[in-house]
Amino acid sequence: MARTPAELVGANPGPSFEITMDGRPVTALPGQSVAAALWSAGILAWRTTRHTDRPRGAFCGIGQCYDCLATINGEPNRRACLVPARPGDVIITQEGHGHARLSV
Ligand code: FES
Repeated sequence: MARTPAELVGANPGPSFEITMDGRPVTALPGQSVAAALWSAGILAWRTTRHTDRPRGAFCGIGQCYDCLATINGEPNRRACLVPARPGDVIITQEGHGHARLSV
């Protein structure tokens, strides 16, 4: 009989909550990173590269590659794999270096 990952680790997460990704509601669990919550919702890319607009999402998952950069609650260049999801978080696809709206 197969066991779920939650059973294997004895996890007992609290109630789920909602974050949004480009306005789309996404369900997250306490303890999940933003990247994990997005992956759980089937969202695999939330950034485009600076020069070629190629899609990027989580790659290493441990804060080393910077592929997972996202704008989280208005702050660009956050590593989604390291940021714990919090109720009401607003995630926005990051384009380029994340400062497109700034006049600098
Ligand atoms: S996935 Fe590599 S730094 Fe986040």
